[in-house]
Amino acid sequence: MELSDFAERILFADSLEGKFFRPPGGLSGLTDRDPGPPRQWSEPGRPAELAIAPRGERVKFPHPENLGDPVMAVRALHTFANHELMAIEMMAWALLAYPDAPAAFRVGLVRLIADEQRHLRMYAERIAGLGARFGDLPVNDHFLRCAPELTTPLKWICAMNLTFEQANLDHAPFFGHHFRRQGDEASAEIMDIIFEDEIHHVGFGARWLSKYGADGPSSFETYLSNLTFHNEPIRARGEEFDAEARRRAGLDDEFIRAMAELS
Ligand SMILES: [Fe+2]
Ligand SMILES: [Fe+2]
Repeated sequence: MELSDFAERILFADSLEGKFFRPPGGLSGLTDRDPGPPRQWSEPGRPAELAIAPRGERVKFPHPENLGDPVMAVRALHTFANHELMAIEMMAWALLAYPDAPAAFRVGLVRLIADEQRHLRMYAERIAGLGARFGDLPVNDHFLRCAPELTTPLKWICAMNLTFEQANLDHAPFFGHHFRRQGDEASAEIMDIIFEDEIHHVGFGARWLSKYGADGPSSFETYLSNLTFHNEPIRARGEEFDAEARRRAGLDDEFIRAMAELS
């Protein structure tokens, strides 16, 4: 199966199960002989219960002190599951949008998609374990809104890996801590796994930032100049800044210092 067919199947799947699609011959059997022309962003397929909800219908994200209440835990996990779903779709679309990107970039995206599929599965199962279903609550299009502006792979990694996913280096341990403290060990363990995987995902962004931005003044300047609509750098961090996780991801000291100083 071709990478572009794999990506299309996922992006336009109109069932949740379709978002977990894996090629019959396994990921290693995927080929990339005919990536086709660059494809513009178009709305992903969704089952009716996961259609983007109008703003007024969305539920408030719970206070972290209330995560011991299963109803509130479901609200938080539902939001996180939606982030995974949007990540899968953004990554699948990147395979269609950047047919000329280096083979290592495209193969790397496939590995990221497989991780995000695993994350989405974990969240969906945990939500089910708490007596609800992914799709019970309205979902937003937070990550998807900037997609039309991501005209290059560099802009894509700056939005996806280096903003949304970088922020998770702070958010995942934060919520893991709160779930654990309030006795929800199962949800806390999911946050632990996702935190470790996210280091690799930010690492993917860090590697391509240094490759694509090799001629730029600094990696942080390159990052700033490739951010697009609604992606301010402050969105790439949480309140408790984890410098060590960023070092493990391979971001350079100057980049980390500049991120730490943002307020
Ligand atoms: Fe993820
Ligand atoms: Fe990720």
